Amino acid sequence: MRKHVLLLHGPNLNRLGRRDPEHYGKLTLAELEQAVAGWADERGFELEAFQSNHEGALIDALQQASGRVCAAIVNLGALTHTSYALHDALLDFGKPVVEVHLSAISERESWRRVSVIRPACVAHVEGLGIEGYRIALDTLVVELSRREDREEHE
Ligand code: DQA
Repeated sequence: MRKHVLLLHGPNLNRLGRRDPEHYGKLTLAELEQAVAGWADERGFELEAFQSNHEGALIDALQQASGRVCAAIVNLGALTHTSYALHDALLDFGKPVVEVHLSAISERESWRRVSVIRPACVAHVEGLGIEGYRIALDTLVVELSRREDREEHE
């Protein structure tokens, strides 16, 4: 059976393609999800994509997916900078998570430079547009095989 990976998008990312294309590019969320699903497929994964503008719905999605998926890629929008609740949900999720941002958040407003979810993630990628999601998938391939090796030697 193919392994499933969760792709989680937070507030305002449903507006991709129309919202601030200088920072976030011209692709719509549906186009982005389709491209990431293709890259996931090439790596033997099935992608489960979900977007919400609501913090609680994102937490519910993580809780519901945790028994089903082996990893997650998250772009939680502005909740990245504020949500300790999502930090805790990601920790509880218990599978490797890569944080992705389309824009270079470390080079923008000072409040955007803070990510409160980062300690719950194995890696983060920013400022590379949609390419960041491909890197996130490759990072997960490496991380999952490391974890499998570790389990075999335990
Ligand atoms: C974002 C960066 C966040 O600061 C912002 O609130 C977003 C998108 C990004 O992908 O660059 O909504 O996560």
